[in-house]
Amino acid sequence: MNIFHAYSHAAPTIGADEILEIENLKVTHIGGGVVRFSNVVNIDFPRVSQWIDENGKTSHEQRWTYGIDEIGERYAINEDGNKFSIEHQNEVPVRVLAPVTENTDEDMITIFKSWEDSIYKCLIRYIDEYPLIVNTLWWRSRGHILRYSPGHFLGVHNDNDSNYRATEGKRYVPKGQMQMRQVIAVMLYINDGVDSKEKLDGTNFVGGELYFPYLGIESVPHRGDIVIFPTNYIASHGVKTVTDGIRYAYLEFYSQGNSDESVCINVAELDDCEDWCRPHWMDTIYDDYHKYCASGNYDKSGQSYNPAFQNRPLEGDEGHRQSLKLAQEKLLSQQ
Ligand SMILES: [Fe+2]
Repeated sequence: MNIFHAYSHAAPTIGADEILEIENLKVTHIGGGVVRFSNVVNIDFPRVSQWIDENGKTSHEQRWTYGIDEIGERYAINEDGNKFSIEHQNEVPVRVLAPVTENTDEDMITIFKSWEDSIYKCLIRYIDEYPLIVNTLWWRSRGHILRYSPGHFLGVHNDNDSNYRATEGKRYVPKGQMQMRQVIAVMLYINDGVDSKEKLDGTNFVGGELYFPYLGIESVPHRGDIVIFPTNYIASHGVKTVTDGIRYAYLEFYSQGNSDESVCINVAELDDCEDWCRPHWMDTIYDDYHKYCASGNYDKSGQSYNPAFQNRPLEGDEGHRQSLKLAQEKLLSQQ
């Protein structure tokens, strides 16, 4: 297969059929910008779980390097350079950080592409729930996989926490600043959470709720649902301990800001994207959202704060040139 094609997969074309699909999504506002889209994806659970189980172990092992600290304790360091005790390392889920590589089976690549297309349609609808967000979505990193075995959980955190600190006159600036650019997180649930051991059937799990302590809400995973939520501190969240079964999910982020290698942010042009999860620009998102807003059924009442209807100026040198050109054309047409 053409692996380049896999990486350069962009987004579905947004035409009349897709607009209808986006309109018909079943949307639930759970609270605080946390939105659930129900039954969006049909999951071939036997195939997907088998593939993750096979690939998770190797992928997990490749994430870590090890060292011995000053008191003789062994520790682990993940791909971002964060240090974990061995005890803590054993509590975090297994991540398949690069689900699509040149070794990935073709049917799985097709599955991952279809998930990305479904996520994109939910994203267009999420933008419509909060239109001002459209100007903050510049680029994305495609999804990676999380696999929680019994005992695994994620403590409460927020997804744009940079771990910056200024203390005693010194600033401790993190070298990598990717997290602080993240605007929203997207979670695709691959299987169901259930509330008791008696309901286990080999495809589901007990525990593993996604919870937001400041918002007082939690989301029980349901196979094929997509949940989109803000990365900020109000939407701080955790995943409760999985007690039985295996919890699988697919996670990605949408971000903003310039590419800046000095803080480890290297955003690729889509056609140069040589890794499934590498950040890359989304150059069609405004136009795709605009198409949705321009559709016949769209209710434009009460949309004064929607950038799609605000006729905002274009920014940057190119934007100013365009504005000048349009002004000159208008002037000429009036003469
Ligand atoms: Fe998170």
